Amino acid sequence: MNNKAAVMYGTRDVRVEEREVPEPGPKEVLVEIRAVGVCGSDVHYYEEGRIGSFIVEEPMILGHESMGTVVGLGGEATRHKEGDRVTLEPGIPDGTCRECRAGRYNLCPNVRFFATPPIDGAFANYVAIHEDFAFALPETLSDDAGALMEPLSVGIWANRKAGTKAGDHVLVTGAGPIGLVSLQVALAEGATQVTVTDVAPERLEMARKMGATRTMNVAEEPLEEAGIEADSLIECSGNPTALGDGIRSLRPAGTAVVVGMGPNEETSVPLAFVQTREIWVTGTFRYANTYPAAIELAATGKVDLDALVTSRFDLDHAADALQASRKDAGNVKPMVVPNAGA
Ligand SMILES: NC(=O)c1ccc[n+]([C@@H]2O[C@H](COP(=O)([O-])OP(=O)(O)OC[C@H]3O[C@@H](n4cnc5c(N)ncnc54)[C@H](O)[C@@H]3O)[C@@H](O)[C@H]2O)c1
Ligand SMILES: [Zn+2]
Repeated sequence: MNNKAAVMYGTRDVRVEEREVPEPGPKEVLVEIRAVGVCGSDVHYYEEGRIGSFIVEEPMILGHESMGTVVGLGGEATRHKEGDRVTLEPGIPDGTCRECRAGRYNLCPNVRFFATPPIDGAFANYVAIHEDFAFALPETLSDDAGALMEPLSVGIWANRKAGTKAGDHVLVTGAGPIGLVSLQVALAEGATQVTVTDVAPERLEMARKMGATRTMNVAEEPLEEAGIEADSLIECSGNPTALGDGIRSLRPAGTAVVVGMGPNEETSVPLAFVQTREIWVTGTFRYANTYPAAIELAATGKVDLDALVTSRFDLDHAADALQASRKDAGNVKPMVVPNAGA
């Protein structure tokens, strides 16, 4: 077996090379990767070499939205068998710290997360992962959909934090992949109005196709003038204006969920508005215990992940995949498709 991998050596420097096929540990499975989504964080590492305090200092393999086929088992791995199609939850917590024991394993300070320095990701033919973080996929789901359980998990977690329930009006700011899955999950949870904002018409068009009851191009029509009174805001743009205007569009006691990561460590929020209306403001960091729900939502057709996919590249063209959404705002979700036979 050859293990071809797209390895990032520095900013805008990704080289395709042969790596050792990983040896699965006792409780690990070896997975032949079939599809990997390109995430905005991969693009940030590729262009800037860092995200906040995470800095790529050694060559690292990008990609953390992945699925594949089990092709090997560690000596004590019993959960899967060879040939199973699985989606990979890319963050492995230590399982013993205070946060893990409280069930908040996404906040584990010792988590090892794919494609977050110094941990390698999945732009490769083979990856080894703890069997508990590989989840069986139904035959009916495509490889692309299997890989996109990861961003879908972000949307599920955001809606859990928002407390989305039947009849709600949810405001989603930003119609990138995260905003689009948050929209679909809100509808699946019974929200009857989902307003989606963006500044890119192509993305608002995708939001309408995915069921948004109202879309607004905030470059042309300011959110503040729309008179919205939403139950919750799911902020998925990272834009400070979207956060402030979004909070001011909440009804009293509404909830603001900050998913988007802005360029600055700090930003201002309309504090008097938050205070006098008892607005709840919370962040989200990745997700915990979402993969079974993600697979169910996709398998039952309540969420359409294939509709997000806009282009495909092989491993040799991983660098092009990393630039695709920059070149064309309509290219929402490029996929890398490693092929072990190639
Ligand atoms: N909290 C988490 O765990 C987590 C996980 C994944 C991604 N994220 C963050 O979520 C955000 C969304 O991710 P993505 O992959 O969809 O990114 P993306 O860049 O594809 O999407 C952001 C969208 O926001 C739009 N936008 C820009 N200014 C806007 C404004 N003023 N109002 C409304 N929309 C505006 C952009 O046109 C774009 O379509 C990013 O900031 C990302 O870093 C957070
Ligand atoms: Zn922990």
